[in-house]
Amino acid sequence: MSEFTLKIRRYSPEAGEAPYWEEFQVDLEPHRSVLEGILQAKDTTDGSIGIRCSCRAAICGSCGVKINGRAALACHTHLEKAAEASQDERGAIVVEPMGNMPVIRDLIVDMDAVHWKKIQSVTPWLLPDGPAPEREYVVPHEAMVDVTQSMACIQCGACVSDCLSMEVDPAFIGPAALAKAYRFVGDPRDGQHQERLHHLAEDPAGIYDCTHCFNCIEACPKGVAPMNQIMRLRRLAGSDYDIEDRNNGHRHEKAFVKNIRKNGLLHEADLLPDSYGGKFHPRAVPELLSSLPAIVPALLHRKVTPQKALLHPHKNEYKGIRQYFDKVDERPERLEFNLYIMGEEDEQDAAQGDPGGTETEDSSANTAGMEGSSA
Ligand code: FES
Repeated sequence: MSEFTLKIRRYSPEAGEAPYWEEFQVDLEPHRSVLEGILQAKDTTDGSIGIRCSCRAAICGSCGVKINGRAALACHTHLEKAAEASQDERGAIVVEPMGNMPVIRDLIVDMDAVHWKKIQSVTPWLLPDGPAPEREYVVPHEAMVDVTQSMACIQCGACVSDCLSMEVDPAFIGPAALAKAYRFVGDPRDGQHQERLHHLAEDPAGIYDCTHCFNCIEACPKGVAPMNQIMRLRRLAGSDYDIEDRNNGHRHEKAFVKNIRKNGLLHEADLLPDSYGGKFHPRAVPELLSSLPAIVPALLHRKVTPQKALLHPHKNEYKGIRQYFDKVDERPERLEFNLYIMGEEDEQDAAQGDPGGTETEDSSANTAGMEGSSA
C-alpha cells in the first residue's frame, strides 16, 4: 500500500460558494486507478464528492476528468503514474472537472449541454439511399476497417475537454462529433456523403475550424485520433467532392501546400493573399486591409521587414522539398494509411511473454495495437 494525495476541485452551485480545492489522503496499491482513489476518499472521508462512473474498465466513458491538467479516464489512470506526472511540488494528484463543458457539481460536467448536442448536430445515424436490401447490407471489409477507428469512440468527452479551438470558439462542432461524422461519411451504406460533407465544410464552425493542435489525439483514451478523422473529412470534401466552402478553408489549404512546395518553408507573407486568390484578387484586398492592424506593428517592431516580406530568405535551403511533392503527385491515386488496426505489436509481445504486453494501461484500450493515424 502507498499513500497518495488527491487534490480535488470542489464546486456545489447550490451552496452559492465559489469553487475551491480540497485534499484527501488515500491508501491504495500504486497500480490502482485514480477513480479508486476518489471512491476511497468518498467512502472514508467525504461522501459528498461528486464523480460520475460506471464500468471502471475504460468502457462506458463516464469517468472523464482532468488529471494534472489533462483530460483522462479516472478509471484508466494509475495512481502511481498520475503522481509521477504531477506538477504539484508535493506530488499531489490534481483532479478537476473536464474543460469546455459547464460544471454541474465537483467533477461532474454537463455533457448534454455541449458534447451530446454537438454529436446530434452531425446526424449520427445512417441515411441509406434507395430501398433496404431484402437481407443485410454487405459491406467490403476494407470499408469497415476504415471507419473502425472512429467507431472505437466511447463518448467520454476527453477530446472535447482539451480542444483548444472549442475553447476559443464554443460553436466549433468539435473533435468527437466530427469523428462521429467521419464514421458515416466513410461508411459505404450511407447515401448522403456529399450532403454531409457540404454541410460540414460550409459551416463556419465545421471541419475548417480545427487548428491542428493535436490535443484531441493526445487526450483520447481509445486511439480514435479525432483530428485525423477531421483531416480525412477535409480531404474528401476538398479533393474528392471539390467543395469550395464559403469559409475559404479549402482554398487556404491549397495555398498552404503551394506555399511549402514553392518555398520549402512557409512564407507567411504569401499565405494570406494566396488563400484569397492572389495579391490582387478582389477577395484578397479586403482581407489584406483588415490585416493591417497586425502587419503595421510587426513592421514597426521589425518582426517583419519589407525584405523578408517580399523575399523568402531560406528559399534555397529547402528547395529539395519539392521532389517529395513530385513523388506524391506521381502516384495514380491517393494513399490513405489506416494504422489503427495492426495487432502486430501486442501479438508479438504476447507470443514472447513480454510482461509489458500485459500492462492494463496499454492493452485495455483496444484489442489491437493501435497507433491511430492516417496520412
Ligand atoms: Fe467507465 Fe471509467 S468508469 S470508463
